[in-house]
Amino acid sequence: MDSPTKTSANEEHLGLIWENENIPYSATYGDYYFSGNDGSDECRHVFIGGNNLEERLREAKNFTIAELGFGTGLNFLETWKYWQNIRKPGQMLNFVSFERHPLDSASIRRGLGQWPELKQHSDAMLEYWSKRDEGSQTWQIDEQTSLRVLIGEATSGVNSWSKQADAWFLDGFSPSKNPQMWSEELMQSVYDHTRVGGTFATYTSAGWVRRNLENAGFTVCRVQGHGKKRHMTVGSR
Ligand SMILES: C[S@@+](CC[C@H](N)C(=O)[O-])C[C@H]1O[C@@H](n2cnc3c(N)ncnc32)[C@H](O)[C@@H]1O
Repeated sequence: MDSPTKTSANEEHLGLIWENENIPYSATYGDYYFSGNDGSDECRHVFIGGNNLEERLREAKNFTIAELGFGTGLNFLETWKYWQNIRKPGQMLNFVSFERHPLDSASIRRGLGQWPELKQHSDAMLEYWSKRDEGSQTWQIDEQTSLRVLIGEATSGVNSWSKQADAWFLDGFSPSKNPQMWSEELMQSVYDHTRVGGTFATYTSAGWVRRNLENAGFTVCRVQGHGKKRHMTVGSR
């Protein structure tokens, strides 16, 4: 890949750099927001597939997905689009995401620009996002979908969250670069905020993350990863 290039003042503040024009990279954490042009497929394999949402979303009356790391909202948009194609009247999806360093609308638009098939959905999300206040927000994004973004450090955010999720998307930066997003305390809180029978999925197969999830109480499995990643991790409560 070409060497990363910096852009706006807000991006500089966040340590955000653009690689090959449109791939967001965090210089603060030394990692990418998603894996190159493959991010959209990876989301479907790791998070939608890894939580068995193809089946579970069809059955659900009221389903809650929680995510660590909202980033550009790519995972939300993929999930929302998927959900719109399979849902039946009367079903509800609540998507809740914990994010410490919210990106501004221009950066999100740029990062998502490589997926024209998501443009309609990203424009709709950015309508809300561009008007957001500093703090946490909840939007009724369509008649059967809500999006809540809780701004702040994930451990305190999840600890003080009053709900439980049916499925978790664990999507911090790589564990070696962002250990706070995979700590024992946070994985315990994720478990405590998971309904019985609920699940998690993550792209990483790092041994210490798996152990933190097992010690928290999850039944954990290493399964086939996406693309160049041989393995990823899924589990259930
Ligand atoms: C790999 S990116 C997430 C990508 C995102 N899911 C998407 O669809 O674009 C990791 C995210 O975790 C956030 N993050 C890192 N450390 C955090 C922390 N301690 N608490 C909350 N968010 C954190 C980063 O700001 C970044 O947005």
